[in-house]
Amino acid sequence: MLKKVSVTVLLISSTLLAQSKEHHNKPMGVKTLSSELRVVLSQEMIALEKAMKTILSSMIAGDYTSIEKTAIKIKNSFILKQKLTSTQKEELHTKLPQSFIAQDSAFHNDAAMLEHVANIKNPELTQFYFNKMLNACVTCHQSFAQEKFPLFEALSQKQNVQHHK
Ligand code: HEC
Repeated sequence: MLKKVSVTVLLISSTLLAQSKEHHNKPMGVKTLSSELRVVLSQEMIALEKAMKTILSSMIAGDYTSIEKTAIKIKNSFILKQKLTSTQKEELHTKLPQSFIAQDSAFHNDAAMLEHVANIKNPELTQFYFNKMLNACVTCHQSFAQEKFPLFEALSQKQNVQHHK
């Protein structure tokens, strides 16, 4: 019963969220996206996971050329950089919270840095940026993808207590 109530509350707050753009730290923005855009996001994420696994394999093989190539792919293909129509871009920017956009942008910069450090074949920095990108997956999912990855729910409740209360 309690669960039903909280689902309703979430639905209401997600509607509110669609209207107030600056309401960060609420995971509901993605739900308000059109189904087309949500499919694009999902496909992009699956490609992203594949790319990260490819980079891991290249790292353990010392294949910096391959790391660089994959980093370029990530840099160019992540959702907010895709050839979306201008209406779709507008939709992303109005429906997703500001912190989502900021995290996407930081992630994108890190992919560019990974490209650079792979180009100069620096192992420490390559690991540093790979790790930073991995961290970005976790951080963004914890805030915005709890529907897809529900195990984050319990974790973020714990964090909210620490940070906000
Ligand atoms: C700026 C935010 C953000 C970043 C950074 C991010 N993701 Fe995601 N990801 C999401 C959101 C939001 C969803 C859930 C989409 C949905 O529910 O429709 C998601 C879903 C996914 C999924 C599930 C896709 C599906 O539909 O089956 C995978 C896999 C994934 N992400 C991989 C990654 C990996 C790997 C990284 C890091 C290299 C990453 N993501 C970084 C926001 C992000």
